[in-house]
Amino acid sequence: MEFEVYSGNPAQLAADCLVVTLDKTGALSASAATVDEASNGFLSARYSEEDIKGGAGQTLLLPGVSGISARRVLLAGSGEGELSDVTAAKTVAAIAKQVSAIAGTIAMDLTALATDARPQAWWAEQLILAIHGNQYKFTATKPEKESAPKASKLIWIGDDISTAMAVADAKAVGTNYARELGNLPPNICTPTYLADQATALSAEAGFTCTIYDEKELEEMGAGAFYSVSKGSSEPGKIIIMEYKGIESDAPHMIVGKGITFDTGGISLKPGPKMDEMKYDMCGAASIFGTMKTLSILKPALHVVAIVTSAENMPAGHASKPGDVVTSLAGLTVEILNTDAEGRLVLCDALTLGIRDYTPATCVDVATLTGACMAALGKVNSGLFTEDEELAAELTSAGKYTNDRVWRLPLEEEYQSLLDSNFADMANIGGPLAGATTAACFLSRFTKETRWAHVDIAGPAWGGDGTGKNSTGRPVPLLTTYLLNKIQ
Ligand code: BES
Ligand code: MN
Ligand code: ZN
Repeated sequence: MEFEVYSGNPAQLAADCLVVTLDKTGALSASAATVDEASNGFLSARYSEEDIKGGAGQTLLLPGVSGISARRVLLAGSGEGELSDVTAAKTVAAIAKQVSAIAGTIAMDLTALATDARPQAWWAEQLILAIHGNQYKFTATKPEKESAPKASKLIWIGDDISTAMAVADAKAVGTNYARELGNLPPNICTPTYLADQATALSAEAGFTCTIYDEKELEEMGAGAFYSVSKGSSEPGKIIIMEYKGIESDAPHMIVGKGITFDTGGISLKPGPKMDEMKYDMCGAASIFGTMKTLSILKPALHVVAIVTSAENMPAGHASKPGDVVTSLAGLTVEILNTDAEGRLVLCDALTLGIRDYTPATCVDVATLTGACMAALGKVNSGLFTEDEELAAELTSAGKYTNDRVWRLPLEEEYQSLLDSNFADMANIGGPLAGATTAACFLSRFTKETRWAHVDIAGPAWGGDGTGKNSTGRPVPLLTTYLLNKIQ
């Protein structure tokens, strides 16, 4: 998408669609008033004739308005007073829905919606993310017969927020990349496929890329990782991309779960909806998406990104309930349920990353537990950390970009649920507090590090049947969180 900022007369702006607002009292924004005047009161008549009442989330598309240069006007309601987060999001979604499929240039004046809490840059970012989201269509294995028209240029009428628009666009491109990786079928998107993506992205972006294959990991002593990957004929991999946009010793580390298909292993999952377990690599997808965004923006940050990828299969050579394995950290794990595989591939990736890079902070992202989805649904990701500052940073980044997290407990008292008679810990904690016991498991491998765990089991994908789709979350959260670290 292309961007421009405009401060001239909106009535004379040639665009395929011009978006202007009016509020619930019928008051027109500055641009709307200019258009109204040029069109002999056409817009104010729409309010007095009750074609639109000005409520937030209402829109009215008006083709062929006389006296102006734009081909269409989209009149959007701005509601009344300070909008709630939900209403603001509804307003963005309504405008984005209308303009996403209009070919060509979209001009917008949303200055009347801007407040201190939601400045113009916020509205632009949310709209750009929503437009890219609407324009995303999976075509890799189902080519489109006819491609839908797409808005290709956005002209912002208001402050010069061109930098913010470029940042938003890069976040949106990263988010759509994560969507695409998530949606790819599991026979295509294997650990090897992800490793190839990392090689290609790193070559293009100048990242340092290190790929550990299954055999190297076994020899290294990553027995927790290997206990999962050995059950599949697709070889597992731990993939590391390092972006050094600034000279600093301690990078910020992000780690993603990349189970390209989760059958549950010998603790086999039930059949219905098992196809959705192709999305069990959405944590990894969000790491790729985030690195894609960084490759576009080239910010002054040092980031190490790790993807821990395997396929979880039942097989003659798969792990069994009762197996005890030794993790890279030297801690032994009794595998009581082979379906709790995410924490097994993550714990060794965390140990490896922390050992080799000594990160300043570490955030892992994983579709880790059904329990987290049961608790929080698809609205919030679960956030687990004992680091108050990290919790605050992630919570506020998520709130800002509407990719929210909700904190769940990670207290000492839960740790004993992982006790095992036969190993340092079991890989499951029984029926209680399932999302927390998964986080407790990981916490044992991150003791000396400022670390947070984000469980995206709910938000990573949505819909049923033909609506089924990866969301690209939490790329907006991760990119916003990382970019906020630049001082
Ligand atoms: N990938 C799943 C978690 C999951 C399930 C995410 C459904 C999204 C939707 C994970 O590997 C898993 O199977 N977790 C088990 C853990 C249990 C065996 C302790 C779960 O949540 O049931
Ligand atoms: Mn599982
Ligand atoms: Zn899983």
